[in-house]
Amino acid sequence: MAGMATHVITGAGSGIGAAVARRLHARGDELVLHARDAGRAKELAAEYPGASTLVGDLADPDKLSWAFSHQSLPDRVDTLLHIAGVVDLGPVGELTPKTWRHQLNVNLIAPAELTRHFLPQLRLSGGHVLFVNSGAGLRASADWSAYAASKHGLKALADSLRHEEHDNGVRVTSVYPGRTASPMQAKVHQQEGKQYDPAQWIDPESVATTILMAIDLPGDAEVNDLTVRPGR
Ligand SMILES: NC(=O)c1ccc[n+]([C@@H]2O[C@H](COP(=O)([O-])OP(=O)(O)OC[C@H]3O[C@@H](n4cnc5c(N)ncnc54)[C@H](OP(=O)(O)O)[C@@H]3O)[C@@H](O)[C@H]2O)c1
Repeated sequence: MAGMATHVITGAGSGIGAAVARRLHARGDELVLHARDAGRAKELAAEYPGASTLVGDLADPDKLSWAFSHQSLPDRVDTLLHIAGVVDLGPVGELTPKTWRHQLNVNLIAPAELTRHFLPQLRLSGGHVLFVNSGAGLRASADWSAYAASKHGLKALADSLRHEEHDNGVRVTSVYPGRTASPMQAKVHQQEGKQYDPAQWIDPESVATTILMAIDLPGDAEVNDLTVRPGR
């Protein structure tokens, strides 16, 4: 995929998504930045001149289709980058349905709904769908049940989609980062009752490098799964 591709990105306002958006913007690609609400969209538009925005709360996937039907959407989509996510730790004995539902909505059902929405354009462009998963999408530790379930589900979504869309020329990648220095990781440390030192964890820029590698790979090859662990 050459320059001037159009990327739809969720989670571009923070952490890994912000690192990816900065890199793609710097090289002149077209960005469609998803935001939870109009205020956040305005901030993103100011930060990324030339980018367009798309508003919809991922916590309410039932309403996304309606929300998108009232906004102008890109004609062309080369990559759909699912990077937004939420986490809430706690033992199964204490997690409420509300906490479960919030993580499943943002981390799993909204990515499915966004994918459904953009698949026609992705098929036309021979595009790429990339999901930022997590080590917790492959292993579930104590206190991580709801988040891990959402990310295990996201693995299933990506794997099924890859089989379904292979013959349509749409590539599908899951990236499984370990702990990465971002506001999400600061929250995890707070919930674990641990001191947070960002220098201990992966730099979001490094995760962004792996994401760009996957989407920039020529069409003869597809990175299916990419595990990224802290290097020290
Ligand atoms: N950090 C880690 O250690 C780590 C490890 C493995 C995997 N991951 C995964 O990596 C991805 C990015 O995480 P991060 O560490 O960069 O987290 P982050 O800094 O907390 O950023 C999360 C992003 O998701 C967006 N978001 C959350 N809820 C949303 C909603 N309801 N509607 C729309 N957007 C919403 C946030 O929007 P606002 O900017 O508006 O808040 C933010 O831009 C997530 O999928 C996460 O699960 C992270």
